Amino acid sequence: MMLTTGILTKYKDFLPITPHYPLFTLGEGDTPLVKCDRVATELGCGELFLKLEGCNPTGSFKDRGMVVAVAKAMEAGSKAIICASTGNTSASAAAYAAYCGLTALIIVPGGQIAPGKLAQAIIYGSRIISIDGNFDQALNIVLALAEKHPVTLVNSLNPYRIEGQKTAAFEIVEVLGDAPDYHFIPVGNAGNITAYWQGYQECRQAGKAKKKPRMMGFQAEGAAPIVRGRTIAAPETIASAIRIGNPAGWQKAVAARDESGGLIDMVTDDEILSAQRLAATSAGVFGEPASAASLAGLIKLTRQGMDFSGKTVVCVVTGTGLKDTDIALKNAPPFLELAADITTVEKALGWS
Ligand code: F0G
Repeated sequence: MMLTTGILTKYKDFLPITPHYPLFTLGEGDTPLVKCDRVATELGCGELFLKLEGCNPTGSFKDRGMVVAVAKAMEAGSKAIICASTGNTSASAAAYAAYCGLTALIIVPGGQIAPGKLAQAIIYGSRIISIDGNFDQALNIVLALAEKHPVTLVNSLNPYRIEGQKTAAFEIVEVLGDAPDYHFIPVGNAGNITAYWQGYQECRQAGKAKKKPRMMGFQAEGAAPIVRGRTIAAPETIASAIRIGNPAGWQKAVAARDESGGLIDMVTDDEILSAQRLAATSAGVFGEPASAASLAGLIKLTRQGMDFSGKTVVCVVTGTGLKDTDIALKNAPPFLELAADITTVEKALGWS
């Protein structure tokens, strides 16, 4: 067995690492890229891979960026970090702050965080403030506080977050031997699409990849400011992680779309839920609702007649479904509840 490496050590040549930079890890990165032949056949696309970012230590892709942002905060002598969050950023910030002995201050939209994520922020010992408002309002508060007080902002406006998150693109290129043709990704605050695009571009520049993918970003229909070209004052979607009406990374996401020849489109809550179910039932992958927006996007475009035959497609599953079991349970078909008796169970199974 080898000691866990983590992305700081593995990718130190591609990260803003200096002699005073602490190299530590909670085991982030090196997540599975799972080939999903059954779903690929159903959709008629050449090869389909799901990148399982829920396998990171706190269950989402945020850990890749957080380890870099927190190491940089430590290097600068900061004692506290702060973020606004729809849940996953706060879980990640709380965990890395705990590991490093920093204080994590977390501002969340009241009643809009999946229970698993809130449980994480609580158990890692962060200071949580729940506001009577949405994510966009929480982010505005956090930005103002980070200007005025000695705390380091660790939302994706912190450029070190993007540096860390780009390593997921490196891993995809390492496994496939090249970039995919299409990269599908959910878009919320629009940091991750920016990070992947930067990662793919760096792979191309370093000669690791021959091509760059088209970046295919998907927002939820009730929270689709980039698609609609205007901020959304009261964003609504079942996919609480991407319930965002004014993304901080808006311009960079548009640049990633345009430079890559891709698109940013939207999917309905029903499309998100049915993609979540398809990934679970046909690939054994349980992602949280927001993370199913990528596969939902691929399904939508396929139904509209876009041809992915012969193409290599990657869909990022950004967070684990275990964070948000309420939604899966709420939509579950009823199951049998019987007496603890073999004959009764056999009869119910139609085996007697
Ligand atoms: N998927 C999941 C599971 C997320 O938690 C997020 C963002 C996204 C996708 C969208 O990524 O913001 O980089 O475009 N979650 C943030 C948070 C906003 O606070 O946890 P993005």
